[in-house]
Amino acid sequence: MFVSLLCLVASAATAAIASPLAHPRAVVARNSTSIDSCPGYNVYNIVKTNSSLTADLKLAGPACNVFGKDLDALTLLVEYQTIYQVQESVLPRPNNDAVEASGAALEFDLTEKPFSFQVKRKDSGKILFDTSGPGGTLIFESQYVRLRTQLPQNPSLYGLGEHSDSFQLETHRYTRTLWNAESPFIPDHANLYGSHPMYFDHRGGNGTHGVFLLNSNGMDINIDNPSSGTFLEYNTLGGVIDLYIVAGPGPVDVNKQYAEIVGLPAMQPYWTFGFHQCKYGYNDTLDVAEVIANYSTAKIPLEVMWTDINYMDKRQDFTTDPQRFKMGMMRELVDVLHSRNQRYILILDPGIHMVSGLDSYKRGVNQDVFLKTANNATYEAVAWPGVVAYPDWFAPNTEKWWTDELGRAFDPDTGVDIDGVWVDMNEASNFCPDVTCVPEVFASQNDIPPAPAQAPRNDTGRIIPGFPKDFQPQSKRDSGDSMKGLNGRNLLLPPYGIHNHQGDISNRAIWTNISNYDGTVQYDTHNFYGTMMAYTSRTAMLARRPSKRPFVLTRSTFAGAGRKVAHWFGDNASEWKHYRITIQQMLTFASLHQMPMVGSDVCGFNENTNEELCARWAMLGAFQPFYRNHADITAAKQEFYLWPIVTAAAKKAIDVRYKLADYIYTALYRQTQNGTPLVSPLFFAYPNDSNTFGIQTQWLYGPGLLVSPVMDENSTSVSIYLPDDIWYDYWTGKAIRGHGKSITLNNVELTDIPLHIKGGSIIVQRAFSAMTLDEVRKQDFNITVAPGLDGTARGSLYVDDGESLVQDPILDLEFYYDGQSLFADGILPATAMQIMNVQVLDPQSAGGAGDKRALSVDGPWELSEGFKWSL
Ligand SMILES: *[C@@H]1O[C@H](CO)[C@@H](O)[C@H](O)[C@H]1NC(C)=O
Ligand SMILES: *[C@@H]1O[C@H](CO)[C@@H](O)[C@H](O)[C@H]1NC(C)=O
Ligand SMILES: *[C@@H]1O[C@H](CO)[C@@H](O)[C@H](O)[C@H]1NC(C)=O
Ligand SMILES: *[C@@H]1O[C@H](CO)[C@@H](O)[C@H](O)[C@H]1NC(C)=O
Ligand SMILES: *[C@@H]1O[C@H](CO)[C@@H](O)[C@H](O)[C@H]1NC(C)=O
Ligand SMILES: *[C@@H]1O[C@H](CO)[C@@H](O)[C@H](O)[C@H]1NC(C)=O
Ligand SMILES: *[C@@H]1O[C@H](CO)[C@@H](O)[C@H](O)[C@H]1NC(C)=O
Ligand SMILES: *[C@@H]1O[C@H](CO)[C@@H](O)[C@H](O)[C@H]1NC(C)=O
Ligand SMILES: *[C@@H]1O[C@H](CO)[C@@H](O)[C@H](O)[C@H]1NC(C)=O
Ligand SMILES: *[C@@H]1O[C@H](CO)[C@@H](O)[C@H](O)[C@H]1NC(C)=O
Repeated sequence: MFVSLLCLVASAATAAIASPLAHPRAVVARNSTSIDSCPGYNVYNIVKTNSSLTADLKLAGPACNVFGKDLDALTLLVEYQTIYQVQESVLPRPNNDAVEASGAALEFDLTEKPFSFQVKRKDSGKILFDTSGPGGTLIFESQYVRLRTQLPQNPSLYGLGEHSDSFQLETHRYTRTLWNAESPFIPDHANLYGSHPMYFDHRGGNGTHGVFLLNSNGMDINIDNPSSGTFLEYNTLGGVIDLYIVAGPGPVDVNKQYAEIVGLPAMQPYWTFGFHQCKYGYNDTLDVAEVIANYSTAKIPLEVMWTDINYMDKRQDFTTDPQRFKMGMMRELVDVLHSRNQRYILILDPGIHMVSGLDSYKRGVNQDVFLKTANNATYEAVAWPGVVAYPDWFAPNTEKWWTDELGRAFDPDTGVDIDGVWVDMNEASNFCPDVTCVPEVFASQNDIPPAPAQAPRNDTGRIIPGFPKDFQPQSKRDSGDSMKGLNGRNLLLPPYGIHNHQGDISNRAIWTNISNYDGTVQYDTHNFYGTMMAYTSRTAMLARRPSKRPFVLTRSTFAGAGRKVAHWFGDNASEWKHYRITIQQMLTFASLHQMPMVGSDVCGFNENTNEELCARWAMLGAFQPFYRNHADITAAKQEFYLWPIVTAAAKKAIDVRYKLADYIYTALYRQTQNGTPLVSPLFFAYPNDSNTFGIQTQWLYGPGLLVSPVMDENSTSVSIYLPDDIWYDYWTGKAIRGHGKSITLNNVELTDIPLHIKGGSIIVQRAFSAMTLDEVRKQDFNITVAPGLDGTARGSLYVDDGESLVQDPILDLEFYYDGQSLFADGILPATAMQIMNVQVLDPQSAGGAGDKRALSVDGPWELSEGFKWSL
């Protein structure tokens, strides 16, 4: 058996161990006696070149065969790269631009007997990855691979998403399990919907590095700090271990280097920064229309309306309920939205109802797109519509079939002309609890699908302002409408059981013994099933509107998914704990995993929310990249307009969010170009300030705005940390000298959220907000200069048409303030764009009515023929 260990080093380094394959979970206690007796490997035939090292590894003693069969020979490959066996189609590898070892920032040291290795910083000799410690013996079996690195005593580790644990990871008896799973109520200390085997190790002044294990198998990553020393240990169910170590040295450098491995994130349409409204349980088009109308009446901007599975006929993909969501009315609904520059998004699930009357299913069978059992029958499972078949994203016709189905159902001329698509349940979630389930029996015993709650109705009995007569009382109905894995593995119950919160690895999932078209098995590819669905949906959306950026929101993700799609954090609950957790979830994905367009269900998905929680959440969510209110069918309605305080909070927060739309859009654009995250934890900006390392209640929205929401129920105060720097209250302009201490802010009412501009920033905003982002884009700009401790400030602004896939920027400027003059440098707009006002904040300002700004001067000034502005 061939296995490679690859270690890329340089300005960044990568170590990779390629091993065989995978495994899911059975609860099997680890055989600690025999684990400790595992012999490890000895190293032979070392061949060094200027840019690489290869060697053979042979088992150093009798096999222990604890969780599978030990592989007796491995191959080691170490490469030094400038930066720099999941299928290449899922995650293309970076180019092997090997550089000379002498030019690398990292150094790889090998111990031959028994095999272990260390990766060090060449300049300081500091060890970043070290398998030579206690318990570090490499174990490499057919269904189990163990690799352990020693860590400093109290490490600051981050990442390993998706989880709902602390942002800075625990270090005592902590396990992160990676196995994509249906995870209602996002339990803590559990595997959730996505797998990102990447962590940041932040060592303050000693630098930050990142470690990415490119492996899609189920795994437990253990972190512990026994007296023999702190360690991080991978326990995978197999797979190729491709280990990349990136050298930083700063946190943002690690980000950029990680992006060189998994790819830069996709640019999203400008409108996706608008406010989104959804609920599972909107009963019919009348309900949906009335929500839209009620937002208008309440004068709360609504950018995008969504509908969950209720729109489907008996929950079947690519259908609409002929009585409740009639095609004619759906088309009218979309026309109304589009005429007001609002948008519409619908959900799709992977499971296709297995009934002969369903055209999408028939076409899928004809084109052979579904996963198969061992005897070549369609693999059956249970999901929303009942017994379903799952698309095999590896089969040659699946992408075309999916693209055609989407194109047909969402045809602008005959279907629902959606603006984005939402893919859910794609872990893939299977209602069948385990492999003893008989799908037909399970579906019928559990009444799946149930009849819709709402009897068909012709109108609500109320006028719905702004909608055609079909939506109004007494209206007449419109009739219109090859790395295949090792043999001999137990693909259902591998001997090593990862800590999957669903139990065995096939529980509530596509069974892991099912083969894909390319001969690989779900055991190995499970963790990116949903990512493939999302990618294929992106391709399908692109086919509908070839020149426009597709927007695809997915629940399930794998490393690198940010290249193409956006993510929300799944089925949280209307609880204060989950309100707080959204911050660490956002930071883990947007700041560490190169998935910038993320957010949680605002006000909470499961359970009933309340006015206070929803008001606070409406404000917090407005400063996260993806901002959507969404609730479960069993939860009470929670649209912002339902409570006066929530209405006021949402209006105020959306007003600022929209003025800042170009500022955050610029930050997203920068991330798509070079990996600098659009939001970041405080330690990214203050890497030497150890007080910032554990902060998960505040974050930087864009490069220069610190967000510090109230964290607790019944509270109007919040303790915020201000690093040693000058800060300015966004709302009043008042300067606050931060001293690297926490201060308490009081009287933070339900319609308030503390925002502070970081000294040294220039923030370019739209002068005024509006009801839609299309209108916001027509406003002039205001520039706020917030001088830093040295009196200077910087900022930037990028503007394009907001939706074309490929285009030249309309404007791309860097702003610089030297204490006297403000300069803009870069690509100036060809068409007229105006600056309405420039404000230079005063580091001495005490705030208050008479003393708000050192200087505020109204223009306008044209940006078109160059811009220099002096005090
Ligand atoms: C545990 O390891 C011992 C020693 O190698 C072996 O005899 C025993 O069968 C193992 N037990 C299990 C459950 O694998
Ligand atoms: C390796 O490096 C040495 C010294 O820099 C150089 O002379 C030699 O040509 C290099 N060899 C290769 C194969 O690049
Ligand atoms: C940085 O390195 C110094 C010297 O090795 C060490 O004393 C210190 O603890 C390190 N700091 C961190 C955060 O690892
Ligand atoms: C819309 O507002 C009206 C008037 O307040 C109310 O009766 C109705 O229930 C609301 N509809 C929805 C879907 O929220
Ligand atoms: C997968 O395992 C189940 C449960 O043991 C079995 O019924 C089925 O035939 C297996 N399928 C394949 C493709 O091996
Ligand atoms: C499996 O079934 C498909 C049709 O559903 C057929 O095209 C294919 O040849 C079959 N493969 C085998 C190995 O029988
Ligand atoms: C949908 O209809 C059911 C039954 O009439 C009702 O209980 C529920 O409140 C409705 N949902 C919404 C969002 O109005
Ligand atoms: C809806 O309108 C049609 C046509 O006027 C009528 O036949 C039907 O009874 C109405 N349905 C309801 C539920 O009112
Ligand atoms: C907040 O106040 C409500 C009403 O007094 C009370 O029921 C609840 O327990 C309080 N919550 C906390 C966290 O103190
Ligand atoms: C922009 O400047 C105008 C004119 O001074 C002012 O009315 C408006 O409130 C400012 N907007 C922002 C976001 O500062």
